[in-house]
Amino acid sequence: MKARLNLIVLGPPGAGKGTQAKRLEERYGLAQISTGDMLRAEVAAGSAIGRQAGAIMQAGGLVPDETIIAMLGNRVDEPDCARGFILDGFPRTARQAAALDVMLAEHRLALDAVIELKVDDDALVERIAGRFTCARCAASYHDRFKQTRVPGVCDICGSTEFIRRPDDNRETVMARLAAYYGQTAPILPHYRDLGRLFPVDGMAPIDAVSTAIEGVLARLSQEL
Ligand code: AP5
Repeated sequence: MKARLNLIVLGPPGAGKGTQAKRLEERYGLAQISTGDMLRAEVAAGSAIGRQAGAIMQAGGLVPDETIIAMLGNRVDEPDCARGFILDGFPRTARQAAALDVMLAEHRLALDAVIELKVDDDALVERIAGRFTCARCAASYHDRFKQTRVPGVCDICGSTEFIRRPDDNRETVMARLAAYYGQTAPILPHYRDLGRLFPVDGMAPIDAVSTAIEGVLARLSQEL
């Protein structure tokens, strides 16, 4: 495997980006950079970014590009990115993709792969409606697909408190899907043209998706 891996995980809401990014972080020692998590932290802190973003997120829209690009700053070059990073939820628009190209060039970083998780819309709604996370350590679970080993107790930290995201409801999911197909999916050809786009069947069980991604990365490292 390469000494450094710079990845993007792309896909519609609920496709499994966060789930797979977390596994890649643990497996390869990469830094997961989730703009959704960064925004939720800003909302929780009541910052200016959070006050602007909260209502947009709750409605399922996209936060303005300039806010996202400024928030990300030089995050890709921080010490925890020494072995590389996984961008989870960024870029989401053509403007963000162009900003990322500039950011990578400025830091002399190469993009190794864009993993596109492909999942049917019906499955996405079911996944999002059933998602919950640990209130203490943010471990992610699902009512059907990823239950806690002991009911009501987090596998990771033992907490018994869980939360559901305010934007995880059927109406908002439809708006989030519309934002994905309208503004994010159109950036896929950019990465296809660069030869960096690797579609993966995201309908498979979580472990099988991880195995497929690891297969992509193993093949990639042989080619480099
Ligand atoms: P963000 O937090 O990025 O949300 P999202 O893209 O809608 O994606 P999700 O976190 O909902 O899903 P996921 O793909 O990570 O799936 P997960 O692994 O959790 O963004 C939220 C909002 O912030 C946006 O709507 C926007 O307003 C704003 N925002 C963020 N970034 C922005 C940007 N760059 N520009 C502008 N605005 C931005 O899995 C979902 C569930 O399914 C879990 O319960 C999981 O256990 C389960 N699951 C996962 N994989 C499988 C599988 N293979 N089989 C069965 N179940 C599975």
